[in-house]
Amino acid sequence: MTYSIDEELIERIHDSVNLIDLASNYVQLKRTGSNYVGLCPFHNEKTPSFTISESKQLFHCFGCGEGGDAISFIMKIENLSFVEAVKFIADREGIPIEEKSSYNQKLKEEKNLIYQINRDAARFYYLNLTRNKEALNYLKKRNLSKNTIKRFGLGYAPARWDGIKNYLTKKGYKEEDLEKAGLIGKKRDNTGYYDKFRNRIMFPIIDTRGRVIGFGGRVLDDSMPKYLNSRDTLVFVKGDNLYGLNYIKRTSSLKRLILVEGYMDVISLYNYGIDYAVASLGTAFTPNQAKLLKRYNKELYICYDSDKAGIKATMKALNILDKEGIKPRVILLPKDQDPDDYIGKNGLEAFESLIDNALSPLDYKLLILRMKYDIEDYEDKIKFIKEVSNILRGLKSPVEREIYIDKIAREIQISKEALEKEVVGRNDKNDSTFYKDKYRNGRNRHNKNKITPIKMVLKPAHLTAEKILIRLMIENRQYYNRIKEDLGREDFLNYEINILAHIIFDEYEKNPNKMNIDLNYIYDKLKDEKDLDYDLINEIMELNVELLSEDKRKLIEDLIHRVRMWKLKMDREKILKELKEIESKKQKDEGDVNRFKSLCLELTKLDKKLKSHM
Ligand code: GTP
Ligand code: MN
Repeated sequence: MTYSIDEELIERIHDSVNLIDLASNYVQLKRTGSNYVGLCPFHNEKTPSFTISESKQLFHCFGCGEGGDAISFIMKIENLSFVEAVKFIADREGIPIEEKSSYNQKLKEEKNLIYQINRDAARFYYLNLTRNKEALNYLKKRNLSKNTIKRFGLGYAPARWDGIKNYLTKKGYKEEDLEKAGLIGKKRDNTGYYDKFRNRIMFPIIDTRGRVIGFGGRVLDDSMPKYLNSRDTLVFVKGDNLYGLNYIKRTSSLKRLILVEGYMDVISLYNYGIDYAVASLGTAFTPNQAKLLKRYNKELYICYDSDKAGIKATMKALNILDKEGIKPRVILLPKDQDPDDYIGKNGLEAFESLIDNALSPLDYKLLILRMKYDIEDYEDKIKFIKEVSNILRGLKSPVEREIYIDKIAREIQISKEALEKEVVGRNDKNDSTFYKDKYRNGRNRHNKNKITPIKMVLKPAHLTAEKILIRLMIENRQYYNRIKEDLGREDFLNYEINILAHIIFDEYEKNPNKMNIDLNYIYDKLKDEKDLDYDLINEIMELNVELLSEDKRKLIEDLIHRVRMWKLKMDREKILKELKEIESKKQKDEGDVNRFKSLCLELTKLDKKLKSHM
């Protein structure tokens, strides 16, 4: 069998394969910022110098100098020729390799003809728009600028039964072919063909390779159906495309993408300056569209209409995206509005601030639940708690779960323990941890002989707080700056976490320009330490605090406060213990009495502090 390795196939491979996934079969990769690193499979090494850029889809090894794209990666690692590597990846990705058969050749020609017809049709509709006052007025009424109309190639289908038919047949196309493109339909009595799109504003739908694959048409008034879309054809499968995606550059530095419901939302957002919206094209959002979006590797926002249907569609899209591993944010609009309405009424800045305040999927789901139930009503409240618990139970990260249990319990005023029980089913967290005295007292960390480990039980919530604070410091220097205002290395009490705190503090202090800390650097540093609980360390390193940066800041304030409170409380307990010891002495000397007095003074001070912190 011969295979035609043509440009299209190579392009499709580049479109659909993710080098991270592909290389993960051979190399253990770790994420560091926007890149992934691992031990180079092409030479022997102990420290990882093999990097992959996900956005660029390229690999490079700083150790041996190898580099390239997905195909060259497979050529090298599987020792294959170019053609073999292409076939290898195509097999793996389920991309059919077309045999060089006459059937395929014919299909390709048929498709090309439809593209050509569609292109000419778009031209026809565009010309008609420029000549039709009513249609132009309609677009004017909707505030669209000339530039916007041009960019989207908007057009107008004249109010006749043979407009596009006559124009394109005169150009030499056959009626059957126009019918295959979905532009005309057979008359019921079989006496010929008629225009499908009449008296409508036309929206050409263009694929990512710049080919016109179909059309949407909108009426100019309130008649029905409001929108008419091309039927599925050889080149147009509705759920496989996104309107506006052709204008999004995969490589552009702009990291955002907004998913909206309608053509007019995409166009109107562009008209006001937002050139990164795409629409799911009338059908509900599909898994294929999710896969398509995944390739763009951008921050995805969903902004569907804020009506019942839109909420339902958002929920559905969230589930589909979750299966693809995409974590979008949801933009909230005032009730019963769509992005077009909102930006038209409130302008670009207002819309951008909505983007900034978009919710995580979890927060969105919780919000919708809150709207569904009346918390003041007991029965509703119980139902709400059950549904919330179901959602929280599904969270993989215990830290995230804890944060939300805390937040929701406070919001609806039930005890945290009760909600916890509802979520987990039981409540047996006996998280004992150790810390070593010297870390708390800040003596020389490297004087191993003097360590007397003290078993110390940190409350689970306290441990969690330390974990999150450490993770956030690693992530961003700004968080570190804020945290170090109130906490020092020694305030991190868990043994492992204390070591991490030393590494992080040292590294940031040594390098004033460092904005975050590479996880590999930390792992490297940890090599010198013995007896570490790597489960805990890995958990911290893999922790993903999924919040907006503003919420992260709030969280940090909260956690710092909590850690300081615990510290005060522990200090208080220590003082009380010492006081009791002195009290229980039968013979008290002057030293004891003085110590007693100063301890009492400290206790008063501490209690004052504790009170003011509450
Ligand atoms: P405008 O009313 O022009 O602002 O459009 P819209 O985008 O606000 O419309 P709407 O929210 O009603 O619909 C969103 C999308 O659903 C549209 O862009 C169409 O793709 C699709 N749609 C809406 N109405 C119809 C219809 O009657 N038939 C079909 N096939 N699709 C429709
Ligand atoms: Mn609208």
